Amino acid sequence: MERAAKAPTIGRVSPHLLLPERPSPGPESLANYRARGGYTGLQQAQQKGAAWLRGEVATSLLRGRGGAAFPTARKWELAAAATADQKFVVANGGEHEPGSHKDRYLVEHHAHAVLEGLALAGVATGASHGYLYLIEDMHGPRAAAEQALREATAAGLLPFPITIHLGPTTYVAGEETAALNAIEGKPAKPRKKPPFPGEAGLFGKPTTINNTETLAHVAWIARHGGAAFAAIGTAESKGTLLFTLPGGEHGVQRPGVYERPFGTTWRQLLDGAGGGLVPGRTLRALLPAMSSAFLSAQHLDVPIAYETLRPLGTSPGCGGIRLVTDASDTVAMAVEIAEFFMKEQCGQCPPCRMETNQFVHILKAVQQKKGPGYDDKIQKLAEFSRKKGFCSLIEMAAAPVVSAVKLFADDFAKAAGPAQPTDA
Ligand SMILES: Cc1cc2nc3c(=O)[nH]c(=O)nc-3n(C[C@H](O)[C@H](O)[C@H](O)COP(=O)(O)O)c2cc1C
Ligand code: SF4
Repeated sequence: MERAAKAPTIGRVSPHLLLPERPSPGPESLANYRARGGYTGLQQAQQKGAAWLRGEVATSLLRGRGGAAFPTARKWELAAAATADQKFVVANGGEHEPGSHKDRYLVEHHAHAVLEGLALAGVATGASHGYLYLIEDMHGPRAAAEQALREATAAGLLPFPITIHLGPTTYVAGEETAALNAIEGKPAKPRKKPPFPGEAGLFGKPTTINNTETLAHVAWIARHGGAAFAAIGTAESKGTLLFTLPGGEHGVQRPGVYERPFGTTWRQLLDGAGGGLVPGRTLRALLPAMSSAFLSAQHLDVPIAYETLRPLGTSPGCGGIRLVTDASDTVAMAVEIAEFFMKEQCGQCPPCRMETNQFVHILKAVQQKKGPGYDDKIQKLAEFSRKKGFCSLIEMAAAPVVSAVKLFADDFAKAAGPAQPTDA
């Protein structure tokens, strides 16, 4: 994947924390990773201890990059405080969100950073076994991770055994408790919570599960310190984020996975990193991630951060961006997204089955010119379903649909046509 030539420097450090400025085409070798300081953070943590490491991660204000932006230090404190004869750590690389390739890219090119981060999570929480969780169709990342694991094990760098596990190629298999079920050999479906994985996770033992990007950041933090990480980004959003920019008819000229610091604007990301839209297209809106809400192009100069996007009703999610141009069919896009969630929901919770099926039904009625009333139905359905599922897919499915109907209200009204005459 191609990346931009030069990124701005924010604070004292270059914003290239995960992807080196000059990327190598294939997987990074152990020698190359060590040449840029790899595994020194782990050595330092083993000398200074778990409390020191948790303190650095707390100082860094790192939040999880798996989509929910949960503070990493808080998750780790819970797992560290739990008493058990055995604890586990899991690196979640179960990425299957359309348009997002960052975890695949990271594991395929920089598996050592993920392994070091996983080992650090284990040191911080007292785990004695780690799992790198990937999905079955990830051939390149799997081969790179296996090679990196062989190298790190042979060099005696890892404090405990790490196993690579392949989950099924479904979206919901990336949900943390579905991933734990998959590792246990059960169907990859989310568990009802509580208990949370930090209390009773893998095989009932306290388990810390983090996204692979989160863990690669941890490796950087252990090497450079939490304060250096917290110096990058904005007030509430620290460090860098990996973005996947789309190509094709409604994409940018240089699609790929890019690393940019929080505080970068959407315009800087799309024009600077991505080289601008494909010729002849005008941007109307963007979807920061499939499971977030649409953002109008009038917000292109808003810095990307949790605190700036929250008031606009959206979030950076996992950074797999979708663009809406003057040539996009917004109703068809909403149908496609709704169909994805309908197909991918796992069927355990009746409200989720009902919501995702009904979204498709209502949106298809718009396409079939069946008249107004769809926006109210969608809004009510989303409100009724909120918090009624074992996992947050139920809310994720609603966010893009509800926002599409609002933001592209004219397109929807035109597609739906006038009110239908009744028989009465
Ligand atoms: C339907 C669904 C799919 C998910 N897929 C992923 C995924 O592929 N990778 C991931 O890291 N987190 C995924 N998550 C979020 C995880 O449940 C969990 O929050 C995350 O792995 C925690 O890591 P973090 O704190 O480092 O972000 C998903 C959540 C849901 C509800
Ligand atoms: S909310 Fe949906 S996807 Fe999540 S467990 Fe329930 S049915 Fe499955």
